[in-house]
Amino acid sequence: MKIVTYGSLELPVLMKPSITDELLLRSFLRRIAFHLSYFRRPPWDSGLTPPELLAFLKSHPPGRAIDLGCGTGTNVITLARLGWQATGVDFIPRAIDQACKKAKLAGVSADLRVGDVTRLDGIDGPFDFVLDLGCFHGLTEKEKGDYLRQIDRIMAPGGAWFLYAFLRPGANVSPPGLSPVDLERLSARFILHSRTEGFERGVRPSAYFVFQKP
Ligand SMILES: C[S@@+](CC[C@H](N)C(=O)[O-])C[C@H]1O[C@@H](n2cnc3c(N)ncnc32)[C@H](O)[C@@H]1O
Repeated sequence: MKIVTYGSLELPVLMKPSITDELLLRSFLRRIAFHLSYFRRPPWDSGLTPPELLAFLKSHPPGRAIDLGCGTGTNVITLARLGWQATGVDFIPRAIDQACKKAKLAGVSADLRVGDVTRLDGIDGPFDFVLDLGCFHGLTEKEKGDYLRQIDRIMAPGGAWFLYAFLRPGANVSPPGLSPVDLERLSARFILHSRTEGFERGVRPSAYFVFQKP
């Protein structure tokens, strides 16, 4: 019997799945893992906007922004407070419920939606700023391609994509993460403005990237 895993979740499958089936199963497990994590406070949900993002926002005038995989909305609220017209999208309804409550408490107006970042149904640009803290790096290869087509559709020319991601130095390191091949693909599509190394909770290498749409 084959076991398909995502993090600590394991799904036994009776027959040997094809690569496509295995990716679908992994994507399914990942979604369940996110659902479960929002029944408690997830480890990434610090309630704080990272200083790297604050420094970027300080040097850019507000416009229209979207946070992809916004979780409970901490950074959508920061954007709105700084004068951005902010949208947040996450596929976990519980996270978006919490984001709506937090935005109300903070007294800011933001467009918070349950949705899939690989489709962005009903969302049209142009957005001057796309934010992603920890969502893109967990997607499968196909999902990454779909996501990139969506941000290409909604981003204004010259717009910025601020991305925080784990790094996968080689194919032998398990997902999530950006591999060197992912980084080559992104650099072929966008202008890389900056890269700042991070270190995820002291465990994994990670980095903040700022890309610009040509
Ligand atoms: C590591 S968490 C980070 C959340 C938030 N950006 C933060 O910094 O607190 C990744 C988020 O992406 C969301 N996510 C993952 N895949 C998604 C998808 N395909 N569509 C929408 N949201 C997704 C998850 O539900 C989760 O809230």
